[in-house]
Amino acid sequence: MTCANSNYELVKEIDVEEPFLPHPSNHRRDHHRPALSQWMVVLITIILTTTIICSLQAVYLTFQPQTLCNVDDSKKGFATEWDVLTPTIETELVRYTNAFRYNATDKTYYREFDPKEPQYVGTPSPEIDDAWNELLRGQYLAITEQEAKRLENPVPIRGYYLAEPEVMHSLHCVNAIRKALSHEYYLTHDKHKLPEAVHQVHVEHCLDQLRQNIQCAGDLTPVPLRPFGDEPNINLIGEPQVHTCRKWKTFRDFYTQRGDEYGMLDSGGT
Ligand SMILES: *[C@@H]1O[C@H](CO)[C@@H](O)[C@H](O)[C@H]1NC(C)=O
Repeated sequence: MTCANSNYELVKEIDVEEPFLPHPSNHRRDHHRPALSQWMVVLITIILTTTIICSLQAVYLTFQPQTLCNVDDSKKGFATEWDVLTPTIETELVRYTNAFRYNATDKTYYREFDPKEPQYVGTPSPEIDDAWNELLRGQYLAITEQEAKRLENPVPIRGYYLAEPEVMHSLHCVNAIRKALSHEYYLTHDKHKLPEAVHQVHVEHCLDQLRQNIQCAGDLTPVPLRPFGDEPNINLIGEPQVHTCRKWKTFRDFYTQRGDEYGMLDSGGT
């Protein structure tokens, strides 16, 4: 556009002034021919300069689109995502925690964590269950009939349409696998226990659901490896990195508010 406009202005000026149109019957004009070629040199110089500037600008536009367009597509979400929740999309940089570490002094491996933060893994405890319940509170949203009609094959459950975003489903699955690792404990400590025959199928479903979710998201953040331990028993451990994440707090606050307003079903993380 800039290129076209510049050329247009240039042509217009020339048309108005008609500097190089010789008058056939005017000998005085013929006499001034050297001045005409000077005009040609100036004109060609201007056109060439404009062309070079425009070409450079085109190259810049090709390689720096974000600085000029200033549109962040990551805030819109994908077309397959639930439009009810896309207003919650914000991104933030997060360094992952709970690194797998090696203590070179006593030659043991351990998990590095901040005891001031909520714990989601470890020896089962009411605190860990509470932390998961906070993440998963009101897991299934009650949705209006109008909202339900926009989803694939909606089916009412006791007069309500219920749905959850995949992020809640995946978290629920991580929790289900965590509980399965302490099966004995949760036989007596789980308020929403599944029947034994269903349990194995559910955990297998969850593992493969997470596999697909992880492959789907395809996080390409590089994780550099460091060697730990002594030869020949060297272990390679990835160093926790900063990731570009959907802002959890923004999503969770909206989800809670939406659940309070329209209703929700709490499965206690099961
Ligand atoms: C490593 O092990 C030694 C000996 O048990 C201990 O004193 C030290 O605190 C440990 N370091 C870390 C970072 O855990």
